[in-house]
Amino acid sequence: MKTKILTTSENDIREAAKIIEEGGLVAFPTETVYGLGANALDAEAVAKIYEAKGRPSDNPMIVHIARASDIGQLTPMLSEDIVTLIDNFWPGPLTMVLKKKPGVPDRTTGGLDTVAVRMPDSEAALQLINLAGCPIAAPSANISGSPSPTRARDVIADMDGKIDAVIAGDDCRVGIESTVVDMTGDIPTILRPGIITAENIEAAIDKEVKYDESLFVRPEAGDLDPAAAAGASADGTEGNAKGDGESGEFRPKAPGMKYKHYAPKAQMTVIEGRRDKVKSEIERLKGLNERLGLKVGVILFEEKAFIEAAHDFFSRLRDLDEEGVDLILAGALSDRDGVGFAVMNRMLKSAGYNIARV
Ligand code: TXA
Ligand code: MG
Repeated sequence: MKTKILTTSENDIREAAKIIEEGGLVAFPTETVYGLGANALDAEAVAKIYEAKGRPSDNPMIVHIARASDIGQLTPMLSEDIVTLIDNFWPGPLTMVLKKKPGVPDRTTGGLDTVAVRMPDSEAALQLINLAGCPIAAPSANISGSPSPTRARDVIADMDGKIDAVIAGDDCRVGIESTVVDMTGDIPTILRPGIITAENIEAAIDKEVKYDESLFVRPEAGDLDPAAAAGASADGTEGNAKGDGESGEFRPKAPGMKYKHYAPKAQMTVIEGRRDKVKSEIERLKGLNERLGLKVGVILFEEKAFIEAAHDFFSRLRDLDEEGVDLILAGALSDRDGVGFAVMNRMLKSAGYNIARV
């Protein structure tokens, strides 16, 4: 398949919208990461997303809408809290898990009776959804298991030849995926952390919000797929369901969180501990591995630059892979900060939970 590279001009977005209407696949920029979109209400079109990504088909998608009123076709349930969160955070990097209406295909929700919905804060994305005239299901536009794409060229590297078109817009402003909050229970529960934190949501709805317990579990590297523990697979196409309850305590509620995720091709280790010790341990390991002839890449963000870390993390992984490094040494961020916690969630997964404490 020849993949069309489109711009964010109105004409091009019109063309992209037509592709979506006709059941095709278009990658498009959002403020978080690039998404790989299809008509969310067309099961056949959604099935093509799984195929293009090489993604396990029980993994549910986020459905993107352009107007708050569009939410009515997806869910019968609108509480006061949900409306308050829409008012406060949409368009923006907050996804809500809601009871789903029967019209939303099982293909889109991975057979769940809930649907994840968000309104992205990107002009190109909103125009695309509006012109297509349907909600758009879109996971991140990367090959399953590899780092999320935050630049048009990352999408093209993974998806060229596999999808109908890419809207090549600007780099993504946020750089990590949206916060996913489950609104179907008594206590709103964050299933995937992002730059909108529990504290932000609590401040808006004036009630307790919790993080799902599985977010605090660090599976042993050995509980993951062997390729995952090595931090790598040669082609980056894995997406193995593991930690499904049979091997240890890792039982995440957002189904996507159980798969091998975000892995660079290089082996990766996260160094955790006091900042000065982390720095010197990275230097020590770097020297040691370079003496063996290995090419070593380092990811060490400024101490409290959490937003910047979120913005740069995935693109750093991809750049280091492009440089052909054998080993990535990454300094842990403080996870006491909500945004730091969100970045650490990605960092630990990228490393296959390969962690060294100093
Ligand atoms: O920022 C984002 O959210 C990006 C952009 C493209 O919008 N999208 C994205 O989609 O990250 P994806 O498919 O890579 O991640 C969706 C996450 C997964 O962890 C999935 O398991 C969870 O949301 N999810 C989706 N539907 C769900 C549901 N009904 N219940 C629980 N978790 C759900
Ligand atoms: Mg993803």
